[in-house]
Amino acid sequence: MSSVTKALLPAAGLGTRFLPATKASPKEMLPIVDKPMIQYAVEEAESCGINEFIVITGRHKRTLEDHFDTVYELEEDLKQKGKEKLLEEINRLSHLNFAYIRQGRPLGLGHAILRARPFVKDEPFAVLLSDDIIDPDENLLERMIGLYEEFRSPIVALEEVPAEEIHRYGVIAGAEERPDLYRFTDLVEKPDPEEAPSNLAIIGRYILTPELFDILEEMEPGKGGEYQLTDALRELLKVRPVYGVVFRGKRYDAGDKFGFLKATVDLALRSSTVSEKFREYLVNVAARLNRN
Ligand code: UTP
Repeated sequence: MSSVTKALLPAAGLGTRFLPATKASPKEMLPIVDKPMIQYAVEEAESCGINEFIVITGRHKRTLEDHFDTVYELEEDLKQKGKEKLLEEINRLSHLNFAYIRQGRPLGLGHAILRARPFVKDEPFAVLLSDDIIDPDENLLERMIGLYEEFRSPIVALEEVPAEEIHRYGVIAGAEERPDLYRFTDLVEKPDPEEAPSNLAIIGRYILTPELFDILEEMEPGKGGEYQLTDALRELLKVRPVYGVVFRGKRYDAGDKFGFLKATVDLALRSSTVSEKFREYLVNVAARLNRN
């Protein structure tokens, strides 16, 4: 059995980049093709043996709880109509356990993660930011869990990002211990391009250890008045090695409109139900754009 069985899904952010869609409904419930974003993250974690999910929610987030609940009247209806495939699809994740915690005020990712302390207790845990969609054919999280088992230290996913985007991320300085595996020496939250210690940015997948909670308890707000996870990881470096693994597969920043559209197009092209028609449609759109 995997040594990491719990995953935290922070979903209490305001989603301002997606307003007005996120005014009264959670960003994490925006569908990409036929599944809400958060379900991609749950399926990714489930494929690595994780079966306990702690969702950090806020106001207007009740649909998140409903989504992972059983809907028996819908099940009955599908059964009666013989729609076995759909029935199977809606029950695919019913063996998983979900707990929901309210963040109250969205005071930052570090603050959101700290809310889960009573549920995580003394175990390592994964954190998945569901607006970062990782290509479902990649095995990033599985690789990270494998590295955690080897080093027994926190493992963070990294991506090489271009200089003009670096100010949007937590960025690391580190020593490459083996190809694409860095031991951190420092971290900076949202640096100016000229101050960035590298082009390696933290993306939304982490394997963390419970001593991080002690650090989060003691922390003061950082950049933007928020309790930043990057600042806590920087403190954690003083007591434990922290490693980063460079991800070279496809990731979509689906919390941003353009990233969301790219994820939608790419995943629709792989969908068993719409890919053919959608490809044909895109070819027509491309021809029209070329004519104009
Ligand atoms: P983002 O940085 O994408 O922030 O958070 P956001 O509020 O969701 O969106 P924008 O930037 O305003 O458009 C990354 C993840 O951390 C969660 C978010 O829900 C998202 O999954 N988060 C962020 C919290 O749970 N609580 C917070 O206080 C902040």
